[in-house]
Amino acid sequence: RQRPGLNHHTLELYENIWLGIAGLMAVFLFVAVLASLFSGTFPTIRDTGGHNMGAIQNGRVDPARLNETPFAKPGVYENPDGTVEAWVVARAFNFTPTRLEVPAGRPITMHVTSADVLHGFHVEGTNINTEVLPGHVATYTVTFRHPGETKTICNEYCGAGHHSMINKVVVLP
Ligand code: CUA
Repeated sequence: RQRPGLNHHTLELYENIWLGIAGLMAVFLFVAVLASLFSGTFPTIRDTGGHNMGAIQNGRVDPARLNETPFAKPGVYENPDGTVEAWVVARAFNFTPTRLEVPAGRPITMHVTSADVLHGFHVEGTNINTEVLPGHVATYTVTFRHPGETKTICNEYCGAGHHSMINKVVVLP
């Protein structure tokens, strides 16, 4: 026969432990939701520890194998040597990523390719103005002198949504 007193205390202890775990999970979820809400508003520069160029060779790439290259995760990256690289994929009718956040006063090397048809890539306010062909990687280096905003624009007619291929570039101080 069990002693009722001990049983009661044991149950209370388990209850408290489970309440504690539930509480921790609630806090964790809350922080995770907050983090996901804010992650889009902070600079997107990622440190990858260097890129494996994968299926890119001599400026050529198989458009069907972009997932084997840094184009698999388009965005802005800081390399271990301090250089900054942006990887941009053009497709009908957008650029990925939809927004580039880059530091001012540092050379940014931009790599652009197309996943489908011929597009253009003009970075307003810079001398970057190139055709973007599937199968080719266009690489240009630019230094944004001042913080502010500019755009990338597709300036090769590519279809019905051509005029909407405009993306934002945010130059951070
Ligand atoms: Cu893409 Cu015009």
